[in-house]
Amino acid sequence: MLVVWGLLVVFLAAPPVSGVPFSMPAPLQDVSDLGLRFGWRNLTCPTCKVLFTVLDASLRMESTMDEVAKVAEKVCIELKVEEPIICHQLVQLFKHDMLMALVLSVLRPPEICGLLLGISCGHWDIYEDWNVTLPQSPKPPVVAPVPPPAGANVSRVLFLTDVHWDQLYTPGASPTCKEPLCCREKPTGSGKGAGYWGEYGACDLPLHTIESLLRHVATQGPFDRVYWTGDIPAHNVWEQTRSSQLKALETITTLIRKYLGSIPVYPAVGNHESLPVNSFPPPSVHGNMSSSWLYGAMESAWRAWLPESALKTLRVGGFYTVRISPKLRLVSLNMNFCATENFWLLVNSTDPAGQLQWLVGILQDAMDNKEKVHIIGHIPPGLCAKTWSWNYYRIVNRYEGAIAGQFFGHTHLDEFEIFFDEETLTRPLSVAFVAPSVTTFMNLNPGYRVYHIDGEYPGSSHMVLDHETFILNLTEANMKVKEDPQWSLLYSAVKTYSLKSAFPADWDDLVHRFLEDEKLFQTFWYLYHKGHVDEVCRESCKSTLLCTLRSGRSSDPQLCKDWRFAPKSVWKPKRFC
Ligand SMILES: *[C@@H]1O[C@H](CO)[C@@H](O)[C@H](O)[C@H]1NC(C)=O
Ligand SMILES: *[C@@H]1O[C@H](CO)[C@@H](O)[C@H](O)[C@H]1NC(C)=O
Ligand SMILES: *[C@@H]1O[C@H](CO)[C@@H](O)[C@H](O)[C@H]1NC(C)=O
Ligand SMILES: *[C@@H]1O[C@H](CO)[C@@H](O)[C@H](O)[C@H]1NC(C)=O
Ligand SMILES: *[C@@H]1O[C@H](CO)[C@@H](O)[C@H](O)[C@H]1NC(C)=O
Ligand SMILES: *[C@@H]1O[C@H](CO)[C@@H](O)[C@H](O)[C@H]1NC(C)=O
Ligand SMILES: [Zn+2]
Ligand SMILES: [Zn+2]
Repeated sequence: MLVVWGLLVVFLAAPPVSGVPFSMPAPLQDVSDLGLRFGWRNLTCPTCKVLFTVLDASLRMESTMDEVAKVAEKVCIELKVEEPIICHQLVQLFKHDMLMALVLSVLRPPEICGLLLGISCGHWDIYEDWNVTLPQSPKPPVVAPVPPPAGANVSRVLFLTDVHWDQLYTPGASPTCKEPLCCREKPTGSGKGAGYWGEYGACDLPLHTIESLLRHVATQGPFDRVYWTGDIPAHNVWEQTRSSQLKALETITTLIRKYLGSIPVYPAVGNHESLPVNSFPPPSVHGNMSSSWLYGAMESAWRAWLPESALKTLRVGGFYTVRISPKLRLVSLNMNFCATENFWLLVNSTDPAGQLQWLVGILQDAMDNKEKVHIIGHIPPGLCAKTWSWNYYRIVNRYEGAIAGQFFGHTHLDEFEIFFDEETLTRPLSVAFVAPSVTTFMNLNPGYRVYHIDGEYPGSSHMVLDHETFILNLTEANMKVKEDPQWSLLYSAVKTYSLKSAFPADWDDLVHRFLEDEKLFQTFWYLYHKGHVDEVCRESCKSTLLCTLRSGRSSDPQLCKDWRFAPKSVWKPKRFC
């Protein structure tokens, strides 16, 4: 995430180079000039605008792209954004898409300066306000959920997210390194090398660990279905290619089908599937720049799991809906259209791909047909760009009667986000569950989740009744390299947290209990990291974290205005994305 922002800044900060037929008021020939004298943090608003008026014109000329890329690489090295070799590879990788995005964009210098120096120096489309259209008909009266009758059918849904297969994971390689991803390529002479089954540190997983997980879950059924919310490739974002991304997609899809056989699997698109990472042009971008290479491959890979109607929208926008059972519908969202890291949204951030307006239509139909809806996606809504997430919040409010569950991943941590009624922000009406990753990245045990959901019978709420989280204890697994390791239950939510049920009000109540009960909160902190914690969480860490649990939408100080939730300093939750 940071790397992408760093690079964006580097690209935006790259000055025109010699050969550009424009004269600068104060030519910036030397990179150290830029870093020391005109480091972007030191740019004044007028200087920024002059700089980018010139840059804007030069960027529009294809012939200067390589030159600009060269400078960007130097700046990347000088500003120590990354190691030199990684700077080189990143710039080569991002060059084409990043510059095209800028060239195609409607961004004017004031907008770029607004991005660099804050909204007071200009305008940025990602802050643009827009509203989806909701139907005129009044919202139906709200019915509070009730627990199912004793003995009622319960569905078990296997939930996999953030697999992050590292094709170069090497047991024995160094678990610490200068690159963003370690445990690969060169085995070390000294020190403890990466474990056979995975390693605590900045490491993703070898294929044999992912295969061990699938072999294990195949014996844990029956599962009614699988939700699989993306991020298949590893974090080696500087060296990926379209073909390495597709190899990851196809290999993991084949492996899931091999072990889970005929169980239906419903995937969602993660931010790491694309090339470069986070780059998801809206469907209005055509040609080789578009995502069709990716969505087309998904269409082929997932054909056995999805009906033709779902494949049709998947192919265009990476999202779809499918009926799971007579009264239950699934919606798989492409959350990359909400992500501030998706630099294509600089071009136009207004409901990209029309996805939210499409969602309104699906939910209205579901309401009319008395169907319940499960929403799956990669990035949790509370981490989305503000306008997108506020629109989504409004939709969840309007259709709380239809939306029975929301399921996300991406943070690699075990958390949740509560949605409240918009009028008072006090009545909890929905929960987005955020399940922990399969991968270890960073410093975690591998893991997966099973949801217990009100099952198939007339009048079922289809709401989550409980969930269980399973892990591989890496410390133990790596002691026995030759044996298939033991995946085991870490905790079950209702039991560990003494919940009455797992409805939205119970999660809101739990957050309030965390305030009073330090031991209970520390249990949450331990489980948040899948049982492998390397940091203590006190005052401001705790209030910030509790605030995020209350934040189903981003940038809303109202949700944490109670002093007990108000972050007291700048502690930021680690998010590994
Ligand atoms: C840039 O800003 C930093 C921090 O505000 C300051 O210490 C430094 O002197 C500035 N550099 C120049 C060249 O203005
Ligand atoms: C969107 O809706 C909000 C709340 O109703 C309103 O304040 C805002 O002006 C609307 N924005 C646009 C662009 O219509
Ligand atoms: C629940 O219903 C489904 C579909 O009708 C059935 O396949 C499953 O076996 C039932 N589960 C239980 C625990 O009865
Ligand atoms: C499309 O782009 C990819 C990656 O940038 C490149 O490898 C490929 O050659 C391009 N194909 C065409 C037809 O331009
Ligand atoms: C941005 O996209 C929206 C929705 O696709 C479209 O209605 C709008 O005209 C676009 N805005 C610009 C400036 O292109
Ligand atoms: C993993 O195993 C180690 C060694 O047996 C143990 O100390 C640790 O508590 C275990 N972790 C979890 C989450 O069970
Ligand atoms: Zn992610
Ligand atoms: Zn991830």
